[in-house]
Amino acid sequence: MRNRLKTILSLVHEGENLWDIGCDHGLVGLDYMNQHPDASVYFVDRIKHVIEKIKGQVARDGRCYFYHMDACLGLPKPLSGNVVIAGMGAERILNIISAQKIEKNTRLILNPFKDPELIEQLPYNLVQQCTLQEGRRERSIYVFTT
Ligand SMILES: C[S@@+](CC[C@H](N)C(=O)[O-])C[C@H]1O[C@@H](n2cnc3c(N)ncnc32)[C@H](O)[C@@H]1O
Repeated sequence: MRNRLKTILSLVHEGENLWDIGCDHGLVGLDYMNQHPDASVYFVDRIKHVIEKIKGQVARDGRCYFYHMDACLGLPKPLSGNVVIAGMGAERILNIISAQKIEKNTRLILNPFKDPELIEQLPYNLVQQCTLQEGRRERSIYVFTT
C-alpha cells in the first residue's frame, strides 16, 4: 500500500466506523475492515463500477455499506466515527462536507490534491496536519474533529 494511504490509516481512530468518501480502489476502507472486524465501513463513490468492484471484493459482509452517488448531494445518513476524503481538490472536499449532516466528535481525515490551504477554512478543530512526498508531489493531510 502507498505511503500516503498508510499515513491516512494511521490517523484513523481505531475501532470506530469509517466512511471512505471518493473511495475509488477502496484500499483505505478495505484495509480498515480487515483490521477492525467490528467496525462498519461505508464506501462512497460517484462511479458505479468502482462501487461494484468493491462490492465483489467484500461479498456478503454485512458491515459494509455502499453509496453510488455524488457525495455533494448529501449522503442519506449522518456522518460519524472516521470520515476519510482523499484524492480530490479541496474545493470539492469542502462542498462534500457542507452537504452532510455530521455528528459531534466525528474525525475528518482530509487529503486534498489541489489548493490544500482552502481546507483550513473549515469551522472545526484542526487536531493534526502533516505533509508527505508522493513521487514529486507534496501531499497535505489534515485531521479535524467536529
Ligand atoms: C483520485 S480518486 C482517490 C481515491 C482514494 N480516495 C485515494 O485517495 O487514493 C478520487 C475518487 O473520488 C471520486 N469522487 C470525486 N468526486 C466525488 C463526489 N462528488 N462524490 C463521490 N465520489 C467522488 C472519484 O470518482 C474517484 O473515484
